[in-house]
Formats: sequence, structure tokens, C-alpha cells
Amino acid sequence: MLNRRKFISRSAITSLSVLFGTQLLKNKSYASTTPGNGEGTKPLVISTWRHGIPANEEAMRVIMEGGRAVEAVEAGVRVPEGDPDNMSVGLGGLPDRDGKVTLDASIMDETGNCGSVCFLEHIVHPISVARLVMDNTPHIMLAGEGALQFALENGFKKENLLTPKAKKAWEEWKKKAKYEPVPNIENHDTIGMLAIDQKGNLSGACTTSGLAYKIRGRVGDSPIIGAGLYVDNNVGGATATGTGELVIRTVGSFLIVELMRNGYTPQAACEEAVRRIANANIPDIHKHQVGYIAVNKAGETGAYCLKPGFNYALFVNGKNELVDSDNYFK
Ligand code: GLY
Repeated sequence: MLNRRKFISRSAITSLSVLFGTQLLKNKSYASTTPGNGEGTKPLVISTWRHGIPANEEAMRVIMEGGRAVEAVEAGVRVPEGDPDNMSVGLGGLPDRDGKVTLDASIMDETGNCGSVCFLEHIVHPISVARLVMDNTPHIMLAGEGALQFALENGFKKENLLTPKAKKAWEEWKKKAKYEPVPNIENHDTIGMLAIDQKGNLSGACTTSGLAYKIRGRVGDSPIIGAGLYVDNNVGGATATGTGELVIRTVGSFLIVELMRNGYTPQAACEEAVRRIANANIPDIHKHQVGYIAVNKAGETGAYCLKPGFNYALFVNGKNELVDSDNYFK
């Protein structure tokens, strides 16, 4: 376990390395290791994992009907949130170690407005609560009991999110109760989604039940603006999946957008953000997975992850396809 002093000094090192990265950007040879043609295609939707395919479908439907990107990403990620067979998002998500399903979500629009909820229970669509926090309050993040109260006051229904399938998996886990939450394809978590609408505006959404069997109260990267999600309509957007602690300590999505602002392609920016994690002296780093996806204002996309297994769904030019991400640890 990290003691507080070690934790603080590691955090300080992380902050310094983020700052130092801006110095590296001045070195041209460090930027844009993957060539981009500077011309992507729009509109587009990109999202993490296989559950991104039906989610993209819904998001693109909203865009083609003239909807805003923010409406599209909300509608898109509601698909896996409402799917009881999806064990990593919304209804049917695997619970914490006490058997409670707790959800995190965030959303960010083309004006830089953002909203999020964390440690939210009993609500199937946390992304829509996050959107309401963004649109109808002067705040950005609501947590736990307060987030639930806000949702109920705004007409959301209280439901039991622990499906029989998830309950059975938790009961199996309890037999050994080995606390080793390692997300990858077999326990694929978060859906993060980015979209560019017909007007060329960008938005993003991110929603998850977090790491399976986490300590009660644990919150990951997904609801933290800059970590699990970041969008700057003048530059691009990024979102993350995988071990949230590693994304938070490197402020991954913000880092990717800042790298793109400084000339990196989305691909090169994702690679650099993953490299930061890989080189951060994290114990058992090989056991962890982190995957990033990114898009720039021109509609170029990128993706990268720590180890094999991460894939993402890209809907562009009328085709919605699952793509395997390249990875750092071969
Ligand atoms: N990336 C999701 C989580 O760590 O909760």
C-alpha cells in the first residue's frame, strides 16, 4: 500500500512529468510520430470496445437526423447502459465487493460545458444525469447520495441494477475474494465515445460501472473531466478505458488533447499518453490495460493501448467497423 508521503511525492512527480511534456513538444522530432494526412472524414463516431458498434449506430442515427454531437454521444452510450447483458456499464454492470452497482459517467459538449456523476447507484442511465448536471446546474460533478437525489428529483426512476447474471458472478468471486481488478477484453469496461456532427462540432461521453469488485466508494477516471474524457472543439477530443487510476495520475485525455493542440496527430498523441503510463514505474504494469481513442477537429482518429486486447468501433463514411488497437507491450 502507498503511504501518504509516498503518494504525495509520486503525484508531484506525475505533475512534473505532465509539465515537462510541454517542453518535449518543442522538440520537433518528438511530435507527430505517426503521419496524418490532415484530412479526416466527418461526421464520425468513435467509441471503445465491441459494445461501441451498436452505440455508434444510435449516435450516427442522431447525427444524420441533424442532431448535435452532444445529443449523439448521449444517445449512443445509453445503448450499452441499458443492456442488461453488458457487465461493465449501467444496468447489469458488475458490482463492487459489497455487491452494489455504482456508476460513473461524464459528458462534454462543443462549448466546453461538461457534467458528471460518480458513485451513483440505482439509475440505469448515469450519462443522462451527467447531461442534466451540465445543462441545468451551475456545477460539474455530483456524487453518491446527492447525485441520486438529484436524479430522482428530475424524474429518473430508482431501479435495481444488479442482474441475476452479475449477482452470480459476484457470488463466485466472493468464494475467493481475490482483490485483483484487471480490466481487459474479458472484463472490458468503460464505453468512451467521441463524435463530430454535421456542423463539424465535437462532443464526448464516457460511462462505466468501473472496476469489478472495487472497494466501495472507489471512483475511476470516467467521471473526471480531463482524465476519462476531454473535448476542446477547436482541437479534438479523447477518452479512456481501462485501469482508471493510471489514467487519473497522468490526466490522460487532457494530455492527449494538449498534445494534439501542439501538433501531434491523434495517433501520436494516444501513443505518447500510453508511453507516459508505461514509463511511470507502476508495479505490475503488465497486468493492467489502458486504452485511448482520440479524434482531431479535422476528423483524423487515433487509438493506442498498453497491451493486446483493446479494440474500438469507428463509424465513418457509412461504415461502422470494429478495429484492433495497436499496443505498447508487444
Ligand atoms: N476506466 C474505468 C474505471 O477505471 O473505472
